[in-house]
Amino acid sequence: MRNFISTKALLPLLLLLHLQFLFLYHVCSDTPVSSAPMEKAEQEALYMVIQGFVGEGWNVSGLYPDPCGWTMIQGVSCDLFDNFWYITDINIGPVLENSLECSPDAKFTPQLFELKHLKSLSIFNCFTSTSHQPTTISSQNWDKLAKNLETLEFRSNQGLNGEIPSIFGQLTNLNSLVLVDNALTGVIPQELSNLVHIKRLVLSGNQFSGSIPPSLTTNLTELLIMDLSRNSFTGALPASFGYLTSLIKLDLSHNILNGRLPNELGKLQNLTLLDLKDNLVSHGLPQSLQNLVSLQDLLLSNNPLGGDLVSFSWENLSNLTTLDLSNTGITGSIPGTIAGLRRLRYLALDNNHLTGNVPQKLASLPWLNTLYLNGNNLTGILEFPDDFYKRMGRRFASWNNTNLCYSTVETLSVGHAPYGVQQCKHEQHVNVLSSNPNVGDGDKDQNSSIMASLGFSSSFHEFWWVVLVQEVVVFTILILML
Ligand SMILES: *[C@@H]1O[C@H](CO)[C@@H](O)[C@H](O)[C@H]1NC(C)=O
Ligand SMILES: *[C@@H]1O[C@H](CO)[C@@H](O)[C@H](O)[C@H]1NC(C)=O
Ligand SMILES: *[C@@H]1O[C@H](CO)[C@@H](O)[C@H](O)[C@H]1NC(C)=O
Ligand SMILES: *[C@@H]1O[C@H](CO)[C@@H](O)[C@H](O)[C@H]1NC(C)=O
Ligand SMILES: *[C@@H]1O[C@H](CO)[C@@H](O)[C@H](O)[C@H]1NC(C)=O
Ligand SMILES: *[C@@H]1O[C@H](CO)[C@@H](O)[C@H](O)[C@H]1NC(C)=O
Ligand SMILES: *[C@@H]1O[C@H](CO)[C@@H](O)[C@H](O)[C@H]1NC(C)=O
Ligand SMILES: *[C@@H]1O[C@H](CO)[C@@H](O)[C@H](O)[C@H]1NC(C)=O
Repeated sequence: MRNFISTKALLPLLLLLHLQFLFLYHVCSDTPVSSAPMEKAEQEALYMVIQGFVGEGWNVSGLYPDPCGWTMIQGVSCDLFDNFWYITDINIGPVLENSLECSPDAKFTPQLFELKHLKSLSIFNCFTSTSHQPTTISSQNWDKLAKNLETLEFRSNQGLNGEIPSIFGQLTNLNSLVLVDNALTGVIPQELSNLVHIKRLVLSGNQFSGSIPPSLTTNLTELLIMDLSRNSFTGALPASFGYLTSLIKLDLSHNILNGRLPNELGKLQNLTLLDLKDNLVSHGLPQSLQNLVSLQDLLLSNNPLGGDLVSFSWENLSNLTTLDLSNTGITGSIPGTIAGLRRLRYLALDNNHLTGNVPQKLASLPWLNTLYLNGNNLTGILEFPDDFYKRMGRRFASWNNTNLCYSTVETLSVGHAPYGVQQCKHEQHVNVLSSNPNVGDGDKDQNSSIMASLGFSSSFHEFWWVVLVQEVVVFTILILML
């Protein structure tokens, strides 16, 4: 009923909007979009570039005689400068059904560097063949794009190898450099330290090696997102990370980084994600991390970190939702202060050397949906309420703590007793040890809410939404005109 009325009420408004569109359409069509000219050289360069990616099978110039006008190329945007059309954006790759796809022998054409107003270049899933002749990123001419290029992305190009060309250091107007899931190798060139206005640096999922250059972290002080995950970076984190005070997300997971975490990390007041899992970081949690008051996700699992939890002011990290210290060699007891992290959803302390009792207060964390304590040497009595075990199910794990038993006031239905934990001797009614045989380590990570690695550009998708909306509007106008 309500829907009916509101739709009815909206109808005149919708009609009005459409009329307005028609009016605008007529006004605008006095000066058709394609009337603005395009330099012959710019147009030819575009054809060569596109042809290089999509292959000789397409006659690009025949299909798109007016690429900034009535025959817009999917993924290509233009803008007017001094009454001439110039190319500003090129997005290559299978994003929509009708978008341009690369041919197996896709290649860069040198004419790319003649598109002097190019602001954004994105190559997605294009150089995919690993058997074909290897493709590398051109090591020259990028300086010709330096004045305008702001976004540069190479994503999911398994056939793209070689190193980051040092000439990228001349792209000083770049605010986003994303090189994700390619087959790039080598070290981070020192020259990238010149990209002083860069906001996002994402190099994850390649085969980069060497250490993180201190000059990079000294100079790129406007960085908001740094993701170097899933590579082979070595060495310790330089103290100059402390200069990256704008940083919101820092993902260095799945590398071979070692040494101690620098105290200077504590200066990153806006940091919400610190992900260092699967590295060789040691020497414990620096006290200074207590200053990371914005932190939501702290992920340090699978590092020989060591140290303990008791000397750390957990209560200062009041926005923490994920704390992953699984398999980090930590010792000592679980401090009750962890139960002061009221927003905690995911707490993994499994496979460490923790001793002592399990704080009962953990059960009162309102959002907690995962708690792993298995594989420690925790002792005493688990005194969580029965509805806690019911609520958590297999996302509560405490097996392999030999001297731990559970106590319950009610008789737990068999399926909800904590798996692999004995009921305390003095109140043992039922043997629940083998009551839940399907639970195992393998399930552990499936429902964890840890975010995936960063760096997926939303602008890429936004672009296509804009295209889609435009298409719908044009279509509606045409229908109405008939
Ligand atoms: C491509 O199309 C243009 C215009 O239709 C035509 O002049 C040209 O010969 C075509 N080229 C090829 C290789 O078919
Ligand atoms: C750091 O940036 C400055 C410009 O702000 C530049 O002159 C210097 O060369 C850069 N340092 C490195 C190591 O690239
Ligand atoms: C941290 O974030 C706040 C709020 O977004 C902002 O005002 C502040 O400038 C940021 N600090 C730094 C060092 O970028
Ligand atoms: C932790 O918080 C308390 C009170 O909010 C404050 O006094 C203390 O300085 C903080 N410690 C750190 C290391 O930020
Ligand atoms: C904690 O999160 C809340 C809500 O998301 C936000 O308003 C607040 O600024 C955050 N606190 C810090 C210190 O970042
Ligand atoms: C667990 O701690 C007890 C003492 O509390 C000790 O005897 C035992 O060896 C420890 N077990 C392991 C596996 O560390
Ligand atoms: C406990 O640890 C042993 C070896 O340390 C392992 O074989 C077993 O699967 C673990 N889990 C349970 C539930 O016993
Ligand atoms: C994950 O969550 C879904 C729905 O919340 C549930 O159906 C599924 O059984 C859970 N899987 C595990 C392994 O806990």
